[in-house]
Amino acid sequence: MDLRFSDAEPSAEERAAIDAFLGAPTTGWEGGIRSDGDLRVAVGGHEARDRRDLLLPALHAVNDRIGWISEGALDYICRRLTVPPAEAYGVATFYSLFSTKPRPARVLHVCTDLACQARGADAVRRSTEERLGPPGMSWQPSPCLGLCERAPAALALQAGEFPGATVYGPAEPAPAPTGGANGSGAANGSGAANGADQAHDVGGAAGTSGTGTTGTTSGAGGADTTSGAGTIGATSGAGAGGAGRAQDLSRLGGLSGMDATGGPALAERAEPPAEHAVPQAGDPSLVLLRRVGIVDPASLDDYRAEGGYAALREAVRIGPAGVIREVLESGLVGRGGAAFPTGRKWEATARQLDHPHYLVCNADESEPGTFKDRVIMEGDPYALVEAMTIAAYATGCPKGYLYIRGEYPRAIGRMAHAIDVARARGLLGADVMGQGFAFDIEIRRGAGAYICGEETAIFNSIEGFRGEPRSKPPFPVEKGLFGKPTVVNNVETLVNVLPILAGGAAAYAATGTEGSTGTKLFCVSGTVAKPGVYELPFGATLRELLTLSGGATGTLRAVLLGGAAGGFVRPDELDVPLTFEGTRAAGTTLGSGVVLVLDDSVDLAHILLRIAEFFRDESCGQCVPCRVGTVRQEEALHRLSRRPTAGDIALLREVGQAMRDASICGLGQTAWNAVESAIDRLGVFSPSEAS
Ligand SMILES: Cc1cc2nc3c(=O)[nH]c(=O)nc-3n(C[C@H](O)[C@H](O)[C@H](O)COP(=O)(O)O)c2cc1C
Ligand code: SF4
Repeated sequence: MDLRFSDAEPSAEERAAIDAFLGAPTTGWEGGIRSDGDLRVAVGGHEARDRRDLLLPALHAVNDRIGWISEGALDYICRRLTVPPAEAYGVATFYSLFSTKPRPARVLHVCTDLACQARGADAVRRSTEERLGPPGMSWQPSPCLGLCERAPAALALQAGEFPGATVYGPAEPAPAPTGGANGSGAANGSGAANGADQAHDVGGAAGTSGTGTTGTTSGAGGADTTSGAGTIGATSGAGAGGAGRAQDLSRLGGLSGMDATGGPALAERAEPPAEHAVPQAGDPSLVLLRRVGIVDPASLDDYRAEGGYAALREAVRIGPAGVIREVLESGLVGRGGAAFPTGRKWEATARQLDHPHYLVCNADESEPGTFKDRVIMEGDPYALVEAMTIAAYATGCPKGYLYIRGEYPRAIGRMAHAIDVARARGLLGADVMGQGFAFDIEIRRGAGAYICGEETAIFNSIEGFRGEPRSKPPFPVEKGLFGKPTVVNNVETLVNVLPILAGGAAAYAATGTEGSTGTKLFCVSGTVAKPGVYELPFGATLRELLTLSGGATGTLRAVLLGGAAGGFVRPDELDVPLTFEGTRAAGTTLGSGVVLVLDDSVDLAHILLRIAEFFRDESCGQCVPCRVGTVRQEEALHRLSRRPTAGDIALLREVGQAMRDASICGLGQTAWNAVESAIDRLGVFSPSEAS
């Protein structure tokens, strides 16, 4: 692809997809028909460059419609937004869900990450390859899809006028193909709950459920549909319009009952409802998950009937300073991995004189083995809308961005719907609840890049740049999104604010321990009897959590806490208390709540290789220790898995230390954690382990 403007033109379909999102061009300068007036006045400049943040959604618009981004389409986007083509190319190629080379409209993403690997992903991958050929065109191996409770999983994305997504979980190695290129649609518009696991044929040509994403304004519609459990009606939120920036994501969830050609839904092969991932669903002791499986996630009335919006009313009663005081006193710390005190972050942002302030909710959730934020967004979406509104009220943000990973179509659809409905009912917008403050939420869809979950990489991604982390300081509370003071919080962190305000900081802090207050969501996956998201008070032990989840399916070999950036725990260490301080003292980490159970059927060296491959693949390449170190680490692990040598272990330690000491961001700093703990705590690659 040429990196300068070329003569390549977009196809009519590509142009239509881009115009549906950006609005039609008004002058020749933006790629419209050139008029005499265009020769006298140059338009574009600052105004167009100010729209640079629309680059990622514009790329999505083309990729959703066509399945890949051609040179002509990229050039046209560049003209519309005044972005240099070389930069736009750099952005388009940064994300794994985009392709700048032709590929079929339907692409299957087969998860090969940790939880899926522990549950047969290799067999799914082999069978897919036998049926569809080498990866790269109609299928590709994928990092964690966040569907770990249904491992092994796969996700089919279907481009078209009605782009769609089909989730396969658990995915089974497929028998011989029988159908054509667009078989049965997996649509579900009826609301039928389907709690049973369904084994789906991932190698075959199952159809995709359709979604509409083109050209509707999200502010206009928003009927509060109350279709049956776990689904959102196909009629939500569509308004007239189609002018600039409009993106109707409300139906992006594969639920509108169309197949890829826009025809009627065929066979019902629905995703199970969100509560399927919550074995404790309905348990009255739940706090954060208490509404999952109880309320219809499409219904604001249901949400209100179950206590929804009581916390926002309390927030307005005590005022922004009161909210911050409650959050400080509650002892809440961030659940995204870094465990930073939330109240301090909010206080620091609120006092910044520079305006506007921004709120970013981090729903990128790409740490392998993490799927709790998906379950909240799919099962209780209004809770996140309310919690974001409270955070914005306390910190003085008129605008919030909800950055959701692109691999979560149902969560995106449900959040978009909830936002539309909340706006239509006056719970978002210019005068929230008639209380004289403005706040609105825009969803930004990630496109397959783990690093975009890093709190400054997310800013670059939203702003239309490559998702590369920034050096800190300055910290986000001073200079964050668009250079303005910004609060970044994880989904789970934010929903904790609801019980804090509803019940008071003291009551909240009475649960858990002094250093880790409240309850925590744990993502239990791997070779375990009942995988899923569990909610326990901080301080419960790992043994208690494993007992609750039915224990390992075979003889327990190890538990990985904290995900790829975490550390292993041995079977004789199960009494470690699940708190930030307890896991730290035990030489591991809670991270974002990953609890990956590995029994003796799992090849640990294989798991370590996957971790190393993950970091090598996901490194943004910006700094040398991480860019080179992750490659060297993977190479050494390949050699070690063939023949353990002291020299390679020493090399790993040296490289690991360099990454930890000298990398810019947490990815490089933690890329050696799990490997180190496997060597030191589990004795992997010791002579007795050598294969
Ligand atoms: C490589 C990397 C990936 C991250 N991914 C996420 C993520 O997907 N979700 C998240 O909430 N935090 C993620 N974080 C942590 C964020 O940088 C940040 O600490 C967090 O969003 C702050 O929110 P909290 O204070 O509510 O935890 C990641 C950090 C790193 C270094
Ligand atoms: S540590 Fe790795 S991911 Fe982070 S900035 Fe450096 S190269 Fe990028």
